[in-house]
Amino acid sequence: MAKQHESSKRTVHRKVTTRSLLQMKAAGEVITALTAYDFLMAELIDRSGIDLILVGDSAGMVVQGYETTIPVTMEQMLYHSAVVARGVERALVVADMPFMSYQVNPDEALRNAGRMIKEASVEAVKLEGGEVICPTIRRIVDVGIPVMGHLGLTPQSIHKFGTYQVRATEPEEADVLRRDARALEQAGVFAIVIEKVPADLAREISREAKVPVIGIGAGPGCDGQILVSQDMLGIYTRFHPRFVRRYAELGSAMQTAFERYAKDVRAGEFPSLDESY
Ligand code: KIV
Repeated sequence: MAKQHESSKRTVHRKVTTRSLLQMKAAGEVITALTAYDFLMAELIDRSGIDLILVGDSAGMVVQGYETTIPVTMEQMLYHSAVVARGVERALVVADMPFMSYQVNPDEALRNAGRMIKEASVEAVKLEGGEVICPTIRRIVDVGIPVMGHLGLTPQSIHKFGTYQVRATEPEEADVLRRDARALEQAGVFAIVIEKVPADLAREISREAKVPVIGIGAGPGCDGQILVSQDMLGIYTRFHPRFVRRYAELGSAMQTAFERYAKDVRAGEFPSLDESY
């Protein structure tokens, strides 16, 4: 049964914290999450009652126009995160640590995670990777910075895998994923994002984990769901993975609006006298 059908009531948290997410999991309440990269979008998402807003390094693709998330820098993530945090009152704001901001060593990772909290006012950071990243997670969590894990399809490793295809379809890789989820939990993460893995595996991991497991392309059995806002709004249309449901076609609506504006300006129909001083 889908998680959504299990919970009929919903506790309204005035401010969502890492603790609220744990309480939601315990109560069988589904966690909602979306990405944001700027102030206005963050404000709209927050007002809609979404529980968690991730400042994803997907910014590299859906805002900055790169092919991957790899080029995104610490300074860029600090900028996106700070403007998002200013637009949010209720949701928990989590920032992605960009590629190479946490892989070199735990001390450097801690310094960069600290910058996210101090300079950008986010409330938690997200790191990609399993067992291998656990010493770094411990170092960050030990000083009081909440960490969210990210398993399955980990876009920062795209050049290692060479494809964005579904992960953990083979039993060996599924075992590694189960082990990684346990290791992340032991290292102290407050939640785990699990991306593009078979639905049955994600359901099993969600059941086993004490912390919330938030799926993207991981089926309905997770404790919560996240999507990239630009994908679900139909603004980012370079590709359309099957796990993305389009809740709006804002890309084409925006394009039509731009074309109508250009036509009106060229025809001398904008601005009118009413729109002038
Ligand atoms: O960067 C991002 O937007 C993410 C989500 C896909 C979970 O990590």
